[in-house]
Amino acid sequence: MDADAIKRETELVRADWAGRGRHWDRRADEIAEQAARMNAPLIEAADIVQGQQVCDIATGAGEPALSVASLVGAEGRVFATDLCPEMMLGARRRAAAQGLRNLTFRTADMLALPDADAAFDRVICRFGLMFCPAPARAAAEARRVLKPGGRAAYLVWGPRAETTMFVVFVTAAEAVLGPLDTLDDIDLARPFSLGAAGALTSALTDGGLTDVDEREVRFAPRVPAAAPFWQAQFDMTFGRALDGAPEEKNRALKDAVASGFESLREGDEIPLAVHVRIGTGAKPTD
Ligand SMILES: C[S@@+](CC[C@H](N)C(=O)[O-])C[C@H]1O[C@@H](n2cnc3c(N)ncnc32)[C@H](O)[C@@H]1O
Repeated sequence: MDADAIKRETELVRADWAGRGRHWDRRADEIAEQAARMNAPLIEAADIVQGQQVCDIATGAGEPALSVASLVGAEGRVFATDLCPEMMLGARRRAAAQGLRNLTFRTADMLALPDADAAFDRVICRFGLMFCPAPARAAAEARRVLKPGGRAAYLVWGPRAETTMFVVFVTAAEAVLGPLDTLDDIDLARPFSLGAAGALTSALTDGGLTDVDEREVRFAPRVPAAAPFWQAQFDMTFGRALDGAPEEKNRALKDAVASGFESLREGDEIPLAVHVRIGTGAKPTD
């Protein structure tokens, strides 16, 4: 993709996320526990310890920057970075509420970080790399800002069909709103663009990282059917598209999602499948 095409794509992504910031801010605390379960294998793969300088790319409402800030402690620092200041509203609010003082927030594209070469021990990114139109270039930019021997770790969604929440959302959206490729305000394709086995490995290797490793991580939570477990993710996914839409449309989509989950019910619970992938790579020491 040439530089102009990358710029155009990035502007589309920026406009999309700018409209979602307030929904993510509103819902972030509700799903903090769920987020922590997904942060754990990423933080472990990144090998984060006290005292490190860490860049969290595409931090959104602060995942995993806030957990990492606690982990690196007063001697360390987290530079939470996102393309959209609107998406960091929640991160700033939550950091203040938690009294975290070792966080710095910056608005920046992952393709052009505002940092000197070799500034960080770690670069991490949760559910962000797949929105970049040039993921290998993003990995090369991570390599630039890493210290020699430093490590980058990325977490992305696996194939869409292997995470129950999205299967139900897609079925409901297509039934109520129409074919996905006609829905300009709902992007249920890009989040899965690095989901195929090997896609992360290619991006990280092409970006010049070494010792590249890619692994799949699966979760199989059974959630109480009576709990509103999908509502936060629903708002984060559809909120922008439904802003200003007629109430009947909003209601019809929610009803379709609720009945999609109901059809999976086993007793008092709903079994969910979740597939994410983690890619890691290092900056060579020579
Ligand atoms: C799905 S959210 C993930 C937020 C958070 N990391 C999490 O896991 O909850 C994706 C984020 O990627 C950001 N983003 C998309 N393209 C980006 C880019 N080129 N550079 C930096 N951030 C980007 C969006 O603004 C959005 O906040």
